[in-house]
Amino acid sequence: MVSLKNDRFLRALLRKPVDRTPIWMMRQAGRYLPEYKKTRQLAGSFLDLCFNPKLAAEVTLQPLKRFDLDGAILFADILLIPNSLGLKLEFKEGEGPLLETVENHSDVQKLYEGDKIHRVLNPVYEAVSLIKSKLNNDITFIGFAGSPWTVATYMIEGKGSKDHQKTKAFMMNKPQTFDLLITKIIESTVEYLSKQIESGIEVVKLFDSWAGSLPGSLVKKYSFDPMKSIAKKIKQRHPSIPVIVFPKGVGANYIEFTKEECFNCLALDSNLPLEWAKENIQKHLPVQGNLDPSFLISGGDMMVEEILSIKKAFSRGGHIFNLGHGITPNAEIKNVELLVETLKK
Ligand code: CP3
Repeated sequence: MVSLKNDRFLRALLRKPVDRTPIWMMRQAGRYLPEYKKTRQLAGSFLDLCFNPKLAAEVTLQPLKRFDLDGAILFADILLIPNSLGLKLEFKEGEGPLLETVENHSDVQKLYEGDKIHRVLNPVYEAVSLIKSKLNNDITFIGFAGSPWTVATYMIEGKGSKDHQKTKAFMMNKPQTFDLLITKIIESTVEYLSKQIESGIEVVKLFDSWAGSLPGSLVKKYSFDPMKSIAKKIKQRHPSIPVIVFPKGVGANYIEFTKEECFNCLALDSNLPLEWAKENIQKHLPVQGNLDPSFLISGGDMMVEEILSIKKAFSRGGHIFNLGHGITPNAEIKNVELLVETLKK
């Protein structure tokens, strides 16, 4: 493992004592920051920004210049993988992502394999090297990818969806094709994350943002198993890289994820009751989370109280403070400052 000037994040992951709770925020580089909006405009579009190593590095570092955070997260998106597999991707202002879909077995078979994905993803690895050199071993550098289930929902729905009906129908009507799709996402994600690690990433996070949309009975097959497969393969190549998983919304099924040794930390969503999470999850595995990002819109005493209860609940060690979901564009910068100050006290 690398030697960092501020290794609070890595220490908490190993349940070692820390002088204060480490913190970073999901989507810490984003539209709540005026400097982000400026750079995004300069880049042309969100995707141009992701594929421009110099500007992607710049926005990755922006939140670190403002706030005393303990982790930097690579600026990229989980949908770069389907894009690298050959599907057209576009982010329309105010509309979210629009992705070309896979409809049948031949569409899935046609997806690229092996080294071909790197042709599209090379600028991301370049951004990683650039960020790593600028971080100067100051703080932990986090890389990420989407989970196979969550990425598959976008590849089948073509956009964000609340109920994922089309994905579930695909999974139930064409199980073999769906499994091939999951396998292809697993394989490309392992290659992608390995290159991120070889370029300078120190911790990996897998976002399963739509795990909560799966019937509880299918969480193991489509959320847990594919993420385990990725984590295992990453560990075979890079044994010392910690893996954080975020099976958002799976409720009591979170307990299953604590039993897997490939997972080093579980990111908690904001719906989990603190006492329950402390007893059933943090007792077994370090956790990350779980302030509801809406507290950052209004701030004030209510936010401070919430931060303090989260800190207290997880005070046994093995806690990285984070949000239960991404920070929203209407979050107030002064509230983020207050969050960091509250944790430092
Ligand atoms: O955390 C970070 O700062 C790193 C960057 C990051 C982004 N997306 C940048 C982004 C990360 C880790 C992601 C992950 C991601 N992307 C997820 C998993 C986490 C989650 O939010 O559930 C998902 C589902 C996506 C797909 C995606 N990207 C959607 C649905 C959207 C539109 C929603 C929105 O907030 O606009 C995006 C766009 C996106 N990805 C933005 C950012 C900063 C906003 C785009 C913009 O600048 O216009």
